Amino acid sequence: MSATGGRVLVIIPAAGSGSRFGGDIPKQFRALAGKPLLQHVIERFMLDDQVSRVIVPIAEALLRTVEPMPRVQFVAGGATRQQSVTLGLAAAGKDVGDVVAVHDAVRPFFSREKFHDAVAAAREHGAAFPALPVADTIHVLDGDKVVMTPDRRFLFGAQTPQCFRTEVLREVLARAAREGDDASDEVGLAAKYGFDVRAVPGDSLNFKITRPEDLAMAERVIAEWGNEGSQS
Ligand code: CTP
Ligand code: MG
Repeated sequence: MSATGGRVLVIIPAAGSGSRFGGDIPKQFRALAGKPLLQHVIERFMLDDQVSRVIVPIAEALLRTVEPMPRVQFVAGGATRQQSVTLGLAAAGKDVGDVVAVHDAVRPFFSREKFHDAVAAAREHGAAFPALPVADTIHVLDGDKVVMTPDRRFLFGAQTPQCFRTEVLREVLARAAREGDDASDEVGLAAKYGFDVRAVPGDSLNFKITRPEDLAMAERVIAEWGNEGSQS
């Protein structure tokens, strides 16, 4: 247990280049209400009494430029999100609490309550994440031709924080490295390898800033509801 009583290690992969967002600095360092997006996310976790510490993989070239913060460790990230998470967990050493949460650097409005729901479900089952039912019908295309239309009732968008019993995430990442799997999130890998992965309800405010219009939307959320978004 850490001095703060929290037992959850949080990894915030922040080594992406933001190719869909564009611009000359990666989106996680863009200002939202006057401070970098990544800083909003780190601060929200540091205020949480379940969190022991935070590890932030960032581009190696930026390591010299970050200001040290108590209980926050910046490490070099990798070429893919999964590699950045793997390097983050490796940097944690042995003193890791019972649960690890992985959260995108670009989801500033995650709800603390839903994060706690995912932590509790991960403790019970092994892995859990916030899931949002898709609003649109999703078609599978081959080029411009529709080849399949999965039943929408079974389709959910994966949000973060994605939470894992520590030994589950270690095993999932080790196996992915062995098998050469690279996935866009860790719960997908965990499910593929047969772990029990549960969904807890997500929410639309926990959107990922992917393109410039998403940042504009985030500014409007803060203008209307203040820094915390509308939620606890
Ligand atoms: N990420 C990372 N290391 C990488 C790639 C992505 O740590 N090599 C992180 C991003 O910084 C972000 C999270 O993974 O916090 C979710 O990824 P995404 O939204 O796809 O961000 P980018 O990969 O940066 O954006 P894009 O896919 O548009 O290039
Ligand atoms: Mg990406």
